[in-house]
Amino acid sequence: MGRQWLTRHASALPAYGMVEIERAIRSLRPSDLIRFSLGEPDFDTPDHIKEAAVQAIREGKTHYTPGDGIPELREAIADKLQKENGLAYPADQVSVVSGSQEGISVITGALFEEGDEVIMGNPYYPPYFINTVLRGSKPLFVPLLPENNCQMMASDIRKALTPKTKAIILVSPNNPTGGVQSLEELKAISEIAIENDLLVISDEIYENITYDGHRHYSIGSLPGMIERTITQNGFSKAYAMTGWRIGYFGAPKELCPKLQEIHRATTICASSVSQYAALAALRGPQDCVVRMAKEFGRRRDLVLRILRQIPDLGMAEPSGAFYVFPDFGAYTDSDGQLVAELIRETRVVTIPGSSFGPLGKNHIRISFASSIELLEEGLERVRKHLVTRKRS
Ligand SMILES: Cc1ncc(COP(=O)(O)O)c(C=O)c1O
Repeated sequence: MGRQWLTRHASALPAYGMVEIERAIRSLRPSDLIRFSLGEPDFDTPDHIKEAAVQAIREGKTHYTPGDGIPELREAIADKLQKENGLAYPADQVSVVSGSQEGISVITGALFEEGDEVIMGNPYYPPYFINTVLRGSKPLFVPLLPENNCQMMASDIRKALTPKTKAIILVSPNNPTGGVQSLEELKAISEIAIENDLLVISDEIYENITYDGHRHYSIGSLPGMIERTITQNGFSKAYAMTGWRIGYFGAPKELCPKLQEIHRATTICASSVSQYAALAALRGPQDCVVRMAKEFGRRRDLVLRILRQIPDLGMAEPSGAFYVFPDFGAYTDSDGQLVAELIRETRVVTIPGSSFGPLGKNHIRISFASSIELLEEGLERVRKHLVTRKRS
């Protein structure tokens, strides 16, 4: 036996759920595939944002910036958080990072260790699970069920709590379920956090994308919460800026020095040019954000209309974000095999629900960050395939 190079925690991570899928795709021509697997808006970054980046390059703003971000961007973010979210983080408690994904690594690296238990939704956004396990902490799953509109329920958190519980991770609007936490539920969760001295990590990256009158609320704006809440957000989804890699978090004052030190040790600073683009995004017109969110609403309605024609599908209608997460239990007991079959038979690529945790079993995640034409074409193929298959 050779030496075990991987840490125990890295070895404990489940196999990457997309391996089988990537194998199925490899032999196919990329242009034949319709991909509903991507978690990124298909829109182009608005022109005024791109122009700001070009100008930054011309002006030679191409060097390292202060580790936590250029001061004017931190100010603009603090301003936005205060005005739009009621979050009172001063600019020096805001850190600009290389995508909010970096935030997940920095935050868990600073705050979680062996013996800690962390409450998270099941299904979950995988990087929260992976980073929690990597730190040697134990995820405590709380179910996100269709009958609760896929919300994390305070009553379930109470059941999961133990004396070792340190934090609650909330992702609302949620990836992959599309659930949006109501104000009432957030209030109940905030009471639990205060009573039990818990930290809350609130991922609000899909805040602008909600449907059917659902509204996003920031838990850190509730009484007594700003001092125990880290709010994660970024530019990827609202401004179609996934490739620019700019995210940010606001954190309680006493945590900032270590979080910022770990961030600097990780990436030194976020891309300088992208920070100027992000500044233009916040300072410029916001109609692009509203327009894109509205288009996601149109697509969601189309997706639901087609999926409802597939018999026996269990489906929670997403209240936010741009994913739908139907239960194909009537068709399969292996979501990985179903996804591979759909690629083979329809050339449509989705993600197996099991990659998002145990309650994702038999589900698949369909992203509707694609054009209406592609959604119609791809989902019709899926519908026809499943209807014929079931009858046979
Ligand atoms: C819930 C959630 N948080 C964070 C991220 C990462 O976003 P960023 O592009 O800012 O790193 C994603 C990306 O899909 C996400 O779905």
